[in-house]
Amino acid sequence: MTTRPHDNPYTPNAGARPPALVGRESQLTSFEVLLDRLRNGHTEQSMMVTGLRGVGKTVLLGAFEERARGRDWTTVEAEITKNVDFGPRMAQLVRRGLLQVAPKARWKERAARAAAVLKSFQVTVSPQGEFTFGLDIEALEGIADSGSLGEDLTDVLVALGEAAQEQASGVVFLFDEVQFLKTPELEALIAALHKTVQRQLPLTLVGAGLPQLPRLAGEAKSYAERLFQFPTIGQLSGEQAADALTTPAESLGIMYAPDAVDAIVEYTQGYPYFLQEYGKIVWDYAPDTRITLEHVRECQDAVEAKLDASFFRVRTDRVTELELQYMRAMAELGSEPQFAKDVAGLMRRTSEQLGPTRSRLIEKGLLYTPAHGLAAFTVPQFDRYMRRAHRLDVPPPRGKSRRN
Ligand SMILES: Nc1ncnc2c1ncn2[C@@H]1O[C@H](COP(=O)(O)OP(=O)(O)OP(=O)(O)O)[C@@H](O)[C@H]1O
Ligand SMILES: [Mg+2]
Repeated sequence: MTTRPHDNPYTPNAGARPPALVGRESQLTSFEVLLDRLRNGHTEQSMMVTGLRGVGKTVLLGAFEERARGRDWTTVEAEITKNVDFGPRMAQLVRRGLLQVAPKARWKERAARAAAVLKSFQVTVSPQGEFTFGLDIEALEGIADSGSLGEDLTDVLVALGEAAQEQASGVVFLFDEVQFLKTPELEALIAALHKTVQRQLPLTLVGAGLPQLPRLAGEAKSYAERLFQFPTIGQLSGEQAADALTTPAESLGIMYAPDAVDAIVEYTQGYPYFLQEYGKIVWDYAPDTRITLEHVRECQDAVEAKLDASFFRVRTDRVTELELQYMRAMAELGSEPQFAKDVAGLMRRTSEQLGPTRSRLIEKGLLYTPAHGLAAFTVPQFDRYMRRAHRLDVPPPRGKSRRN
């Protein structure tokens, strides 16, 4: 057998299920425990998975979804995007959940009531009625129509949870990119879930997002940390990374030399996306059934070029020159989180002057603050990329102030 492109098992694509999903056993087990406990009327902390770009958050949510379906739960997936009205979006998602819990023809009392509550919610969040629900039912007055998103969403999720309970089923919402929710939206969602937990209903939400998520949730509602655990996923260990690389190849009759594996693991630092990209390129490059250290070395430039084009460069598309220089200065200081004053010092400015720049980079999801005063890149190895792709442009000492 030769290493032909059409057999290539690697998956360097956003959200693409890898051929070997390694190193996520503990999160998958926690998720199954969560569902089983809720189904049995117990309470359990839900999960918000956090991690840098490309570590496998979306893939993990996908694996959760599959497990949930395997247990006959209704699943409702959504990716949060900025600038989408959250109330109407939730109305649509709840509708999707309700119709999966039971098709309309089989609605019992609780499901019919949930539909009426949902109708009322829909009219409240979107009075112009841009959406026609196809739920031919009267809105329930006095429920989910207060105009307070938190209270109304609580009514809706409780009603949906009761409908699921009536069908001896459960509903799990799986939300990706949760850091894009605005504070009042996150607050409303957490408040609503707080209620379904208190009522011991078989309804939950698991989320995924960037590392600032625990802080955002805590700021939205102080009790968020009691409702959710925030497991962090990231680099795979050396052994796991080696498995991620060799398992898919071995099953197709392709072997790696041990030092070839080591070289890829070292270059990628065990980051899942980088492993998939390296594996894919070296697979196509190696001429026969054994992948050697030579092959790995000879591919490295191609891998780097591919990563630059597909993963790194897109992140800097929408940043200003000053924002770019800010990140370049951070990169100069190394891969660890950096203090605002040190970055500013390198740029010969004050951290006050650069505060707005730093805030915009956080808003754009390129930086996050692991602790007060510190900022770090949300993209792994971004410091390495910035150093190779951009020149550090430090103004001369006491020079005239430069334009942004
Ligand atoms: N456990 C794993 N083992 C090996 N490869 C993995 C694993 N999890 C994810 N991958 C691979 O890593 C890449 C990134 O996965 P995914 O898109 O889920 O990351 P992400 O954390 O959602 O990134 P982003 O923050 O950019 O959305 C994909 O190519 C996927 O196939
Ligand atoms: Mg993702």
